[in-house]
Amino acid sequence: MDSDLALIKLGGSIVTHKEVPLSANEAAIAKILKDLSSVKMPKILIHGGGSFGHYWSVKYDIHSKPDFYDPRGIATVHESMISLNEIVIKLMMKSNMNPYSISPSALTLNHKPILQKIHQLRDMANDQIIPVCFGDVVYAGHRKYSILSGDELMTLISSVLRPNKIIFALNVDGIFTDLKNRKLIRRYDTGNAAKFARVKADVTGGMRRKVREALKIASLGLDVWLVNGLKPKRIAGVLENVEVEGTVIKGKRGNTWNA
Ligand code: IPE
Repeated sequence: MDSDLALIKLGGSIVTHKEVPLSANEAAIAKILKDLSSVKMPKILIHGGGSFGHYWSVKYDIHSKPDFYDPRGIATVHESMISLNEIVIKLMMKSNMNPYSISPSALTLNHKPILQKIHQLRDMANDQIIPVCFGDVVYAGHRKYSILSGDELMTLISSVLRPNKIIFALNVDGIFTDLKNRKLIRRYDTGNAAKFARVKADVTGGMRRKVREALKIASLGLDVWLVNGLKPKRIAGVLENVEVEGTVIKGKRGNTWNA
């Protein structure tokens, strides 16, 4: 049976003001934490980079492809993620949660999960500790580095721990059939795959990556929710089995994920 565990990614568009470099959206983070702190189930939190990590990775031209990058850029991206992570951790402490920050370098090797380390996250979550990890630049061996996104971490952790609640919190209500009429897909399964094929063509950049990772996770047989983290109670609602506005991708082994 899949374990009683929530894996939640707070996207960079929620934890930061994406258009303002190096600016955390503390008000949004605090609101989400207030809702989350009242839900007692074991949790693991991941956060994105938004106007911190992404800002610098663009400046220094650092990508997810392992390559030789400017050492100053690597240090700068990493330092910015540590700063953002510290803000998140401090707000969690204020909300009376018990966060424990873990760098993705400690959980993965060459973008693959270090199994024993990932299993320990569940043990910690069962002890009312909330492991908090984040997208970052990581060492890829042979003097190369790469960006390991928070979205990718969601897939890595899901594949090992099979959480029963997997949530991508975004700054939009979910996945739309197309960007023009913004009709929300509430549930994606094999029945509405055709609609979804169009979505894949429509979404770009960051959203496309999230959808791709969400579909990978669903292909492991796990349900994945995409909800608006800026609207109150949506994340907590999913955890409490309350019907909320958003998209659920129903888990099905063998779902295609060639987004
Ligand atoms: C940020 O992680 C990675 C860096 C550029 C350091 P994500 O790629 O998961 O961040 P968001 O959620 O899209 O901002």
